[in-house]
Parts: sequence; C-alpha cells; structure tokens
Amino acid sequence: MTNSKKSADVLEFYENWDFSKYPDYLTLLMDFEENLIYDIISKDEFFKSLKLETDFSKVLDAGCGFGSFYNLTKDFDTIYMDFSKNLLKKFKSKKNKICADIEKMPFNDSVFNLVLCINVLEHVNFLNAILEVKRVLKPNGRAYFVVVNKNSIINDEIFIDWKIPHELISVNDFKALESFDFQLESIRSFYFLPPLFKIFPKSILKKIIDLFFKNDEKISKYLKFKGQFLICKMVKK
Ligand SMILES: C[S@@+](CC[C@H](N)C(=O)[O-])C[C@H]1O[C@@H](n2cnc3c(N)ncnc32)[C@H](O)[C@@H]1O
Repeated sequence: MTNSKKSADVLEFYENWDFSKYPDYLTLLMDFEENLIYDIISKDEFFKSLKLETDFSKVLDAGCGFGSFYNLTKDFDTIYMDFSKNLLKKFKSKKNKICADIEKMPFNDSVFNLVLCINVLEHVNFLNAILEVKRVLKPNGRAYFVVVNKNSIINDEIFIDWKIPHELISVNDFKALESFDFQLESIRSFYFLPPLFKIFPKSILKKIIDLFFKNDEKISKYLKFKGQFLICKMVKK
C-alpha cells in the first residue's frame, strides 16, 4: 500500500469514527487505558516541572482526536492538532484547535516544551512523524509517545484490529532514534488486563479494572515491555 493511500484510509476511518455506538466493555477498556496514561504522565517529573506561565510552557497535543487528554493539558498554553475535522469538531474545547498532518506540521522550529503524541504513530510514517515532533520541540523539550506494543503478551484485538492501516511499534523502534539526537529518557509498558475479562458483566469488569489499575506499575516491573502499550519519553538534544 502506498503511503498516500494509507494516509487517505486512516483519514477516512477517523472522519467517520462513531465511538458512541461502542459496547460498554469497550468504553471501559478505553477509559482504563486513558486513566493509566493520565496517571503515568501526571506523575512524571518533567511534566510536574512544567510551569503554568504561558510563555514558558507551550504544549502540543499532536493527534489529539476528540480531546481525551484535554484535562491533562488545559492549564498550559496548549495547541490541539489533528488531521480529522470530524474529531476536532467533537472536541469540546473551542480554542487553539488546528487541523494538520503530523508529518508536516505548520509550526516553526523549537516552539514547544512538551509534545503529547498518543496512539498516533501506529497510523503514520514513524520516522517522519517523530522527526517532525523533534523539530517543533525546544532543546531539552520532551515528547511522550504512546503506541500499541508490537511485543505485547496481551494482544487484545480491540487495540490491534481497528480495521485501519495500523502498524505496531516496538521498544527497538524507539531505541533506533538515538542517532537522530532524540534521546530516549524513559520507556515502559502498561496495561496488562487479559482480554478474557471482557466477557464479565460491566460491574464485575469495573472491579477487575480497578485491581489492574492499582497494580499496573508493579506488573510492569515483572513483565517488562510486555504490556499492551508502550509509553516513551524522549528529550531533544
Ligand atoms: C487512536 S486516535 C488517538 C486520539 C487521541 N490522541 C487519544 O489518545 O484519544 C488516533 C488519532 O490520530 C489522528 N491521526 C492519524 N494520522 C494522523 C496524521 N497523519 N496527522 C495528524 N493526526 C493523525 C487521528 O485522526 C486520530 O485522532
């Protein structure tokens, strides 16, 4: 498949994406993933060090979708960027929304202190997108990338079979970026809920999710890099 065909298919998928019809269990699992990401980033030292003064902390949510991580970034000077007009329309914030392609962003070099790029790299040319993120980061700025892990033992099909062009990403794909002056500061995997729990009714699944939420960090120490997702923090040199 050519890159432009792949990109057109991804765009078509997101322009027509209607998550309001998803079954309860799927919404619960997506919330679980989101809560884990929120928890990991909000406790991260670099994130905690960001200042609220607008001229200091410029943030970009690249591939923001309908704004799942708005609460994490709303107090900074944040730009929300996505290439789907449909999702940007559904995003409740009215301010600072830009429709653009992550592989060719309409920003000057070295603008942002922090870039979030959550579940986007799987759909795009990995290296082009990463180098664009690096370009718009200030020196010493950080990017947090979240991707579906190629080496997961969970293999939950709801996160790997979205019926759109989608390539899973490995720890080594990030390690290979060191030669681009984009240094890997930390990487871990998260989300260890085995897919079989989906069969339980909502009330029981919620309790199981709570248990996995509380123990995610511990499990990730034993099952290093085997979780369903990777979260990687990179620093621009
Ligand atoms: C799985 S969603 C994640 C959305 C959001 N980051 C979140 O975690 O809720 C993937 C997002 O990437 C966006 N996307 C895919 N390819 C893109 C591209 N080339 N440029 C900008 N956004 C893109 C899609 O429109 C969609 O909003």
